[in-house]
Amino acid sequence: MKIAVLAGDGIGPEVTAEAVRVLKAVVGDSAALELVEAPIGQAGVDAAGDPLPQETLAIARKADAILFGAAGVPGDEQIPYAMRPGASLLRLRKHLDLFANFRPAIMFPQLVGASTLRPEVVEGLDLLILRELTGDIYFGEPRGFRTSASGERQGFNTMVYSESEVERIAHVGFRAARGRRRKLCSVEKANVLECSQLWREIFIRVGQEYPDVELTHMFVDAASMMLIRAPKQFDVVVTGNIFGDILSDCAAMLTGSIGMLPSASLAGGSFGLYEPVHGTAPDIAGKDIANPLAAILSVALMLRYSFDRPDLDEKIQAAVSTVLSDGYRTTDIFEPGSRKVGTREMGDAVVAAIRNPPR
Ligand code: IPM
Ligand code: MN
Repeated sequence: MKIAVLAGDGIGPEVTAEAVRVLKAVVGDSAALELVEAPIGQAGVDAAGDPLPQETLAIARKADAILFGAAGVPGDEQIPYAMRPGASLLRLRKHLDLFANFRPAIMFPQLVGASTLRPEVVEGLDLLILRELTGDIYFGEPRGFRTSASGERQGFNTMVYSESEVERIAHVGFRAARGRRRKLCSVEKANVLECSQLWREIFIRVGQEYPDVELTHMFVDAASMMLIRAPKQFDVVVTGNIFGDILSDCAAMLTGSIGMLPSASLAGGSFGLYEPVHGTAPDIAGKDIANPLAAILSVALMLRYSFDRPDLDEKIQAAVSTVLSDGYRTTDIFEPGSRKVGTREMGDAVVAAIRNPPR
């Protein structure tokens, strides 16, 4: 398993270090693993004068999978796109055509109390947000700043999807639904946007090839409301880049903490990038208090999707479940009566649970 490890900035290195320890523990045989570290984000600027160094991109391309931490520094939206640490991830996704972003939101029963929603609303929640990741207003051209006819400054972006882009994410969504509860909700804003009208048309057309999957459509505003009111109605939610960005943060909070949520970004085959949904969290970086479970669960997704080892995915999930049952909690999921631990201690606990699984 040849894995590029791009830990990046902020809490990225701390949580990635724990994820790597868990990876080594669960794979067991160190000869089976080839880990290559490379800098990205501000770390890339510091090491090579570029947030996405050529060398890093080359290492990422040659790997079977990428383990990514987080990239960016506070205030970096002021820096031009090509040199902006936070944009390195966007460029990497685009370069590698990682168009299918899986963001599962699964409620661990031990954390029902950590959610801000009532237990009956979130208990047993298991939904998948599938976010298109390489199109939409994130990458649409033209974009930029300009001066209006009346001499005012304007910032502008373009929301655009091509048929082929929508088709390929639709197929991924329908196939994912087939492996689950066979329900797909396509989310857009077709009452206002042509881009969304096209999206909906294509989902209806592609859906005819999957008569066994129930297809529904929802506007994004209604979907955000339903995610909070009755999230268990959803199985697979498929949506575009910007709506998926917003809805996945929303879904993350249902499960108690964004510190729990892993993600996988795939290009249609087994190659993928795996990263926690959370970002650099500069306010808590370097303090050994960040929750490493999202990064650890990202390794689990990697083992399943890139290396076809669902058995190892299940081992990691079981170990995470054990440590949660044993009361280990980082501050983001802390509840009175539980056992407050730091990043490293949480990693230790997961590694120990992998080595000595309960019988
Ligand atoms: C995410 C993040 C990124 C995004 C940022 C860091 C560019 O919020 O992965 O959800 O908007 O895609
Ligand atoms: Mn986001």
